[in-house]
Amino acid sequence: MPAILAPSILAANFAQLGTDAAATLRGGAQWLHIDVMDGHFVPNLTFGPAVVAALRAALPEAVLDVHLMVAAPEAWVDPFADAGAHRISVHPEASVNVHRAVDAIHRRGLAAGLALNPLTDLGLLDDALALVEQVVVMSVDPGFGGQRYLPHSSARIRAVRQRIDASGREVRLQVDGGVSLANVAEVLAAGADVIVAGSAVFGAAEGPEAAARSFVQRLASST
Ligand code: DX5
Ligand code: ZN
Repeated sequence: MPAILAPSILAANFAQLGTDAAATLRGGAQWLHIDVMDGHFVPNLTFGPAVVAALRAALPEAVLDVHLMVAAPEAWVDPFADAGAHRISVHPEASVNVHRAVDAIHRRGLAAGLALNPLTDLGLLDDALALVEQVVVMSVDPGFGGQRYLPHSSARIRAVRQRIDASGREVRLQVDGGVSLANVAEVLAAGADVIVAGSAVFGAAEGPEAAARSFVQRLASST
């Protein structure tokens, strides 16, 4: 599948979120990655369904890719589905009922993703890969933008890519954290087909539209 850029709005200027997000779409991004944090599963607190609803109303063409970094994510599937999410990724580390969370996402007709922390054993994909439409390889410890890409992530991406290819299913391989124009070629070569980028897009000196365009050009040239 052609690689996709999903700018993480966590790095946007919240005082002009809609304007900044629209700029990335003009630059060729098709998804918006929405990092929801509850201050329990990760030591940070971000935003809730109201922000998703506002983005859905303002930017109906964008695919809203919600990343739930919350404890007991199964409780939050309906509110974010009601708000207009298209895709919801949950952390198996955050729930004793992750199968129930994936079911709840599917019951709302949305794409379900599993987001795996940097040291989470990939063995859970033996059973879980068949249940989801996306695997998110966390290449930083979740909770904050602007962190450094963890080098061992590329081997994990390759291992997940092998699993997805062996499954014969169309499952998106999303890489999330510390991706920039300097390392995106490595991440793509390892097998990613969804690139999340927050600070490298919204924090770029050239502005979010130009930064998104640079990423999209790299993604297009890599396929
Ligand atoms: C971290 C989030 C990431 C982060 C990406 O917990 O899941 O999506 O916002 O931001 P950068 O690209 O700046 O690492
Ligand atoms: Zn994320």
